Amino acid sequence: MSRMEARIIFAWLLVLSNAISTVVNGTYFSDSHIINAPTTMKKTHLHFFFHDMLSGDNPSSVLVAKPNGTVVEEGNVGPFGAVYVFDDPLTEGADLNSSEVIGNARGLYASTSRGSDLTLLLSADFEFTSGEFNGSSISVFSRDPLVVEKEVAVVGGRGKFRMAKGFIILNAIYLNVTNGDAILECNATIFHE
Ligand SMILES: *[C@@H]1O[C@H](CO)[C@@H](O)[C@H](O)[C@H]1NC(C)=O
Ligand SMILES: *[C@@H]1O[C@H](CO)[C@@H](O)[C@H](O)[C@H]1NC(C)=O
Ligand SMILES: *[C@@H]1O[C@H](CO)[C@@H](O)[C@H](O)[C@H]1NC(C)=O
Ligand SMILES: *[C@@H]1O[C@H](CO)[C@@H](O)[C@H](O)[C@H]1NC(C)=O
Ligand SMILES: *[C@@H]1O[C@H](CO)[C@@H](O)[C@H](O)[C@H]1NC(C)=O
Repeated sequence: MSRMEARIIFAWLLVLSNAISTVVNGTYFSDSHIINAPTTMKKTHLHFFFHDMLSGDNPSSVLVAKPNGTVVEEGNVGPFGAVYVFDDPLTEGADLNSSEVIGNARGLYASTSRGSDLTLLLSADFEFTSGEFNGSSISVFSRDPLVVEKEVAVVGGRGKFRMAKGFIILNAIYLNVTNGDAILECNATIFHE
């Protein structure tokens, strides 16, 4: 075997052993590493409040579908399979009455847990209607567990938020489990063009 051949075989052995070692036995993931890619993306923080009102004469979120035979009522507003469509105001401060409306979240959520861990699938476009990001929006698509503090994924955006990726930390500052009304503090971190 020539020196060159030996080197090639050695290099192949390295490649193969690397390929094998990244598959960890008994788990569904391999190791994660940092990729140092150049980027010109911007990072923007947003802080606002999200008002989801199911009760009253003018609800911002309405039931549009439920499984046949399932009862949706006070105290049980989100049984498995229930689907709501919403047009929820976004405000700068926590109080809807006195705070400036800076946008709206329009979309739908469905109750997607068969268990006692009430969970929604949230699919919505959050558009801003004032200031720097007037007319721009972020697209949210995520599992949304009904816990006080949670995180949802931002998967895209429009306008100044083109190519957006990020996350929103949600903190339920008001939640009425009887009628489903909620006010969520949203702290978004967005990477975009
Ligand atoms: C809904 O449930 C009722 C009562 O069980 C039944 O009569 C009806 O056929 C069901 N409808 C559908 C579309 O399955
Ligand atoms: C906001 O206004 C509504 C209707 O006018 C009222 O019922 C409610 O108590 C007000 N909320 C706050 C926090 O002031
Ligand atoms: C937001 O943009 C719309 C459409 O361009 C415009 O009509 C509106 O006046 C703007 N609002 C604010 C608060 O800048
Ligand atoms: C929660 O909603 C129920 C039903 O609408 C209402 O009776 C109750 O007063 C509400 N609780 C709070 C803290 O607002
Ligand atoms: C919002 O999130 C940013 C970054 O994740 C963090 O630095 C900041 O403290 C958070 N602010 C609030 C009010 O939670």
